[in-house]
Amino acid sequence: MTIQTIATRPFEGQKPGTSGLRKKVRVFQQAHYLENFVQSIFDALGGIAGKVLVLGGDGRYHNRAAVQTILCMAAANGAAKVIVGQGGILSTPAASCVIRKYQTFGGIILSASHNPGGLDEDFGIKYNTDNGGPAPEKITDAIYARTTTISEYKTLDAAVYDIDTLGSGQLAGMAVEVIDSVLDYAALMQQLFDFPAIRAWFAAGHTMQFDSLSAVSGPYATRVIEGLLGAPAGTVVNGVPLEDFGGHHPDPNPAHATELIATMNAATAPDFGAASDGDADRNMIVGRNLVVTPSDSLAILAANAKLVPGYARGLAGVARSMPTSCAVDRVAKALGIACYETPTGWKFFGNLLDAGKATLCGEESYGTGSDHVREKDGVWAVLFWLNLLAATGKSVNQLVSEHWATYGRNFYSRHDYEALDVEPANALLAALREKVTTLAGTQLGGKTVALADDFAYDDPVDGSHSGKQGIRIVFDDGSRIVYRLSGTGTEGATLRVYLERYEADPAQHGQETQAALAGLIKVAGELADIAGRTGRTTPTVVT
Ligand code: G6P
Ligand code: ZN
Repeated sequence: MTIQTIATRPFEGQKPGTSGLRKKVRVFQQAHYLENFVQSIFDALGGIAGKVLVLGGDGRYHNRAAVQTILCMAAANGAAKVIVGQGGILSTPAASCVIRKYQTFGGIILSASHNPGGLDEDFGIKYNTDNGGPAPEKITDAIYARTTTISEYKTLDAAVYDIDTLGSGQLAGMAVEVIDSVLDYAALMQQLFDFPAIRAWFAAGHTMQFDSLSAVSGPYATRVIEGLLGAPAGTVVNGVPLEDFGGHHPDPNPAHATELIATMNAATAPDFGAASDGDADRNMIVGRNLVVTPSDSLAILAANAKLVPGYARGLAGVARSMPTSCAVDRVAKALGIACYETPTGWKFFGNLLDAGKATLCGEESYGTGSDHVREKDGVWAVLFWLNLLAATGKSVNQLVSEHWATYGRNFYSRHDYEALDVEPANALLAALREKVTTLAGTQLGGKTVALADDFAYDDPVDGSHSGKQGIRIVFDDGSRIVYRLSGTGTEGATLRVYLERYEADPAQHGQETQAALAGLIKVAGELADIAGRTGRTTPTVVT
């Protein structure tokens, strides 16, 4: 095996989005495409000679091939060691856990998260730093800048490393350690949650369905929930990760996890339902005939955190992304702790977690997590709920309705308009950006606008400024309309419209969400002229 220096030319568009570089598999399969990006990561980091990296992914199509490419390139670039998940498998939170536990220089995670997998679907790659979290913008900007000037990369002439056998080996002078993909993560979960109580909850006959959507949460959920917690075999369904996710769209929301929703709406529904996404960082929590919104889930976890051993000492603070509902703000207020509002993107929580300012974080996009790792964590969120169910003896529905009775309900929904033409979508946002400056104090749909702006964030830890993070219109009764373009889509542009209305009166909490939000939905459509500008009269996905 010899080190080779291969001449290359930049590819256009290797700009990492909200969560790394995501493109169609066939784009990644072009000669030099992945290599250019990986070398750009290494170069942007100032080289990786002598460093230790973690490597793994969600097992989707192209995962195994990419692992081999990256192993060769890491060896050729002089890395001391790569710790790789067996079979190339590491969920995103597990990768974060391993980076932190073994204090490595960083890690490369192969995933396009909740986007479908397969030859004609998506693949993705991102770099996480030594805190286990997604690289901050200054690093991703440097990676992108490097992709525009790259002229060569280093690799080995030919090598295939056996990533299926556990243990240590060598690749062209670099150490390679193939680790059990689940072990370190499962150990961390046992430190946080009351496993004996949850085991007793299952032993008492309580039932659950965890839908892994044929993605990477399968091995984690099976080993922890069916194995360590003693839930009956079959509790985890679609638990074997497949390269095409068995055709599932591995996004745990009511629109895509339809099998689970049907199970939870049936007369024979188990006590608890949950699902996770392609790389196991997202979660959906479901009760009987009830989908818990991610925003409510965050608020409920925060309100009850003291029941969980890992959080028994209380929370330093909480954080949510701007479009996430303000339900958790009310809990923070009651607990007398800080609540931070960040732009969309888990990476913005990193500094708050590192600085000990926030303990729990969450996003409306089915992401919840804590300072135990630096990624959102689907299986962790499910275990947190299991711990609450076991500790209180209450059902999901009871926990939710009691929460609303105490804090009020934030009716919440997100309307997505997917695969729009990029230009009209940008124009729609640009027009709104102009319009909002004049809205404060005016009436819209019978409500007074208290604040209207394009959200900007000044990081309280490092002072960095992030502008243009979404148009928000906040009414004086706490209702909100938020518009932004997705940073994770791979086809055209996706307009997201987030709608929220606060209702204090428990007698009104039983309303159907879309009906409760009908007035705001109308205002949102008219204000942005969604139909006129996009030609769409209904959203493609409503969650
Ligand atoms: C990923 C990110 C999240 C983000 C979500 C939606 O899951 O990790 O932080 O909230 O995508 O992002 P988008 O830009 O598509 O709304
Ligand atoms: Zn994900």
